[in-house]
Amino acid sequence: MGRVINKRILLGVCGGIAAYKAAELLRLLRKQGCEVRVVMTAAAARFVAPLTFQALSGHSVHSELLDPEQEQAMSHIQLARWADLLLIAPATADTLAKMAHGLADDLLSTLYLAAECPVYVAPAMNQAMWGKPVTQENIARLQQHGVTVIGPAAGEQACGEQGYGRMVEPAEIVQSVLIQSTGGLIAGLKLVVSAGPTREPLDPVRFISNRSSGKMGYALTKAAVAAGADVTLVSGPVHLPAPTGAKFIQVETALQMYQAVLNACADADLYIGAAAVADYRAKQVAGRKLKKGEAEDSVIELEKNPDIVAAVAGLLPKPWVVGFAAETDDLENYALGKLRSKNLDMIAANWVGRAEGGFDSERNALQVFWPDGRKTLEMADKTSLAVQLLQLIAERMHEKNPIKNP
Ligand code: PMT
Repeated sequence: MGRVINKRILLGVCGGIAAYKAAELLRLLRKQGCEVRVVMTAAAARFVAPLTFQALSGHSVHSELLDPEQEQAMSHIQLARWADLLLIAPATADTLAKMAHGLADDLLSTLYLAAECPVYVAPAMNQAMWGKPVTQENIARLQQHGVTVIGPAAGEQACGEQGYGRMVEPAEIVQSVLIQSTGGLIAGLKLVVSAGPTREPLDPVRFISNRSSGKMGYALTKAAVAAGADVTLVSGPVHLPAPTGAKFIQVETALQMYQAVLNACADADLYIGAAAVADYRAKQVAGRKLKKGEAEDSVIELEKNPDIVAAVAGLLPKPWVVGFAAETDDLENYALGKLRSKNLDMIAANWVGRAEGGFDSERNALQVFWPDGRKTLEMADKTSLAVQLLQLIAERMHEKNPIKNP
């Protein structure tokens, strides 16, 4: 996995069943190059042994407010100053309430008060507790005070009830924290993403298509939503659930995708064409199923589909346009050719037809080109790759045109 940032993160773990997921969160943050120190509440230590976090972070866990040994090594104020970022996951209703009201009766709540760095919380609690007006008031208060709230997600809870209150999955918390902490370059941008294949019908039951699963485009959508962008996803037919938080437009053919993308791009800041659009469609679509005998010697006449990404790049005013290039050979030359001929701001090129990466794979690697630069994003899961690509896009966009959001 490529290194995204090198941050010092203070990870606060509260006492809830989701505390065990904080171990995975810590592992993922370290994998991204972050140095992590862990603060546990007394209740958290009853769910997961501090030794787990000590082994994963490489540092002893902080839990007592006035432990002379720990204060000597690093006082709670030094700990608060050390951090680039305070992330509390899971954050219980109790800790959130303390934070909202300025109570400081344990190490974690004291660190929150002492911290001058950005603060993120990933709440986790029973759905009724989450829905209680007082919890919602506390959350609103914390947001007013500049705390970023990640989630919670909806679904089945450990107690067997359904609803909002599950801690957001560790990989999504990492995405959210890392991308937002790059300066919020993506936050507030109006972004259109295309994903998946198109299907070009031959008759009511047959079609021409390709192997795209939509995973790359959906990962980009989720990462951009997590980073606070206003995202429209135009998707061909795939087997993935619609990402929450994005406007979702489902299409089938290249012509439908063309219309949907151009409409959505009318006032967009950024378009990312991750879809594998069929270059050709059948000239004639039979109104009834073609019979075996009829089709035996027949030739399917094809006509060209419009090039969506090139059309977006021709809009006036035009959003920032990122294309993908799927290649089985001579990746760099073909990608650079597409960058120029389609008038793109950036192109992310990937190998396809290999054992790993490209179509329908969980992982991918990208060689990214723009008119005066390039960067390789090493083989990684598509979730992590999406975050890295968005960061790169945001940096380049920001360099060329100052983004309208801070
Ligand atoms: O969906 P996954 O299984 O996760 O796989 C990801 C992926 C391999 C599909 C993705 O990473 C990718 O490479 N997408 C682009 C695939 C493709 O069609 O590449 P291309 O080299 O043929 O097209 C170049 C660019 O032109 C692409 O941005 C494409 O969206 C765009 N295009 C192509 C034809 C067309 N008629 N309109 C377009 O907009």
